[in-house]
Amino acid sequence: MADLSSLLEARYGTTSSGSAAPPAASIAANLTLQTLLQHKSVRSFLPDPLDPGTLEILTAAAQSAATSSNLQTWSAIAITTPSLKSQAATLCGDQAFIRAAPLFIIFCADLARLTTTCAQHGTPGTGLQFLEMYTMAAIDASLAAQNATVAAESLGLGACYVGAARNRPRELASLLSLPPRVVALFGLAVGRPDPGAPPATVKPRLAQDEVVRRETWGQTDESQQKKGAANLAAYDEALADFNTKQGRGDAPAWTYRSAHRIATVESLHGRDIFREVLEERGFKLR
Ligand SMILES: Cc1cc2nc3c(=O)[nH]c(=O)nc-3n(C[C@H](O)[C@H](O)[C@H](O)COP(=O)(O)O)c2cc1C
Repeated sequence: MADLSSLLEARYGTTSSGSAAPPAASIAANLTLQTLLQHKSVRSFLPDPLDPGTLEILTAAAQSAATSSNLQTWSAIAITTPSLKSQAATLCGDQAFIRAAPLFIIFCADLARLTTTCAQHGTPGTGLQFLEMYTMAAIDASLAAQNATVAAESLGLGACYVGAARNRPRELASLLSLPPRVVALFGLAVGRPDPGAPPATVKPRLAQDEVVRRETWGQTDESQQKKGAANLAAYDEALADFNTKQGRGDAPAWTYRSAHRIATVESLHGRDIFREVLEERGFKLR
């Protein structure tokens, strides 16, 4: 098993573990930490079907995630039929790895089940008509999906999330015959990594003190702003180094790319209608 310091070094692309204090001697690497810290999105898959029972164990892992008030406000659609998967891929940014993966799971926010329980027990379900409930369902679905992802990775499988499932939300809902109060949030392509493709590698993350603050948000003074700017500059460098090693030395800096990813309506790739689609699908955003 890899030791913690090399796992952290790879995660932050530095020898300083993302400015984190070194772990105490009592904190040793274990298989769970190794799986988590070695996460990387995989986009090259063998076409082989997954072993029988794989979807079931991924589902059990997903359902093992915590869920707000135990309401379990999510559902997923597992697509393995190549023709349907290909149509879904077309709607999800036409990304080839979705077609190649033997399994494509669409994770949905699902308030339809609670609508049924309200009808069953004669309650008005007023709570369902608030942004809060959509947010709860989106959180539940995300936690479930991440558990499924970690489970897949622990089995030696690879996975890649697909936010492009929101690029053409009306068509995807129609393709999958989604009922009212169910909306597709994102997909997850799962398969055996193709050993013939360049291996996916751990992509560095922002320094820890850039994302985790202690006790309160803290100072917003000039020294903090300088610290933030330095963190972003250091991350631009770490990611440039990563990209160069991946043969993508011409990739734009992270800050540049991020700023452009959200620059215009067009940069949302069709997702600007998502609020409308939520309303249409019965998710009230009061
Ligand atoms: C919700 C979500 C949606 C994503 N959508 C896509 C996608 O549509 N296509 C893609 O190639 N990668 C997608 N990704 C993968 C991210 O690009 C990837 O996680 C990020 O670059 C960090 O790389 P890593 O996962 O290898 O650490 C998505 C990730 C998340 C969490």
